[in-house]
Amino acid sequence: MLNSEGIIFAADIDKKENLLGTIRSVSPYIEAIKIGNLVLLEHGLEIIKIIKDNTDKPLLIDIKFMDIQYIAERIVTKILSHGGDGIMVSGVVGGDVISACKKIMSKKMLFVFTQFTHMSGLISDEMADEYIDLAITLECNGVQVPATFPKRISNVRKSVGKELIIISCGIGAQGAKIGSAIAAGANYEIIGRSIYNPIAPSQSPAEAAESAKNKIRKVLLSRENCALPASTTPESPLNSKSGISHSYWIERTVNCY
Ligand code: XMP
Repeated sequence: MLNSEGIIFAADIDKKENLLGTIRSVSPYIEAIKIGNLVLLEHGLEIIKIIKDNTDKPLLIDIKFMDIQYIAERIVTKILSHGGDGIMVSGVVGGDVISACKKIMSKKMLFVFTQFTHMSGLISDEMADEYIDLAITLECNGVQVPATFPKRISNVRKSVGKELIIISCGIGAQGAKIGSAIAAGANYEIIGRSIYNPIAPSQSPAEAAESAKNKIRKVLLSRENCALPASTTPESPLNSKSGISHSYWIERTVNCY
């Protein structure tokens, strides 16, 4: 359901018209949309279907509950009855709860949140690694790894290979550069404020999304080029066509991890 790499738009917008208008305008530049508790609390679960009617992009519901299996199952069932293409749960709830969610989800996507983007979060690398192991064992679709710790992304990518989708938040407003998580080995960058609160020179969310997509495209191209013969470098004509910079394509795509 998630096919090509790129942007997951974190649509944390509370005014309904603004939410739907922004989603429509950025949809050409993104691969999926994520809504979380902020939007669900403001508009109720009905917003899921309304968003789906306004875009053809997959919609992920970021609920990250912290609860027992019985409640988790009821929450997931309720959400799925309103549509949505996937959910995110916290790894810390453990195997029984994640496994129960997975059963209810059937073919819908399930992502596991592993670690916080902020410095004072209390999930250690060792704990996060346990959640990643669980995600693999329980055949979840992917894991969230913070873009603010790019070394974590490259380490996780090395350890899971291509088995899991890595989605990464902390881009833009929280400090990580657009393209940096994908350069480190993520498949998707979750971007919210940098798109819906655009910063000049972008004048609108659509412009900000388009600009982010272009930056990410260069990083993906650079990453692909790692598989080319050694004579092909980012300075070669192949690459210079799309213009070098953007922090030298995020440090030459972090050596393609
Ligand atoms: P911004 O506006 O910062 O939005 O681009 C970020 C989105 O990502 C979510 N977020 C997190 N989710 N662990 C998570 O699971 C985190 O540490 C974290 N940091 C940000 C946030 O909810 C928003 O939708």
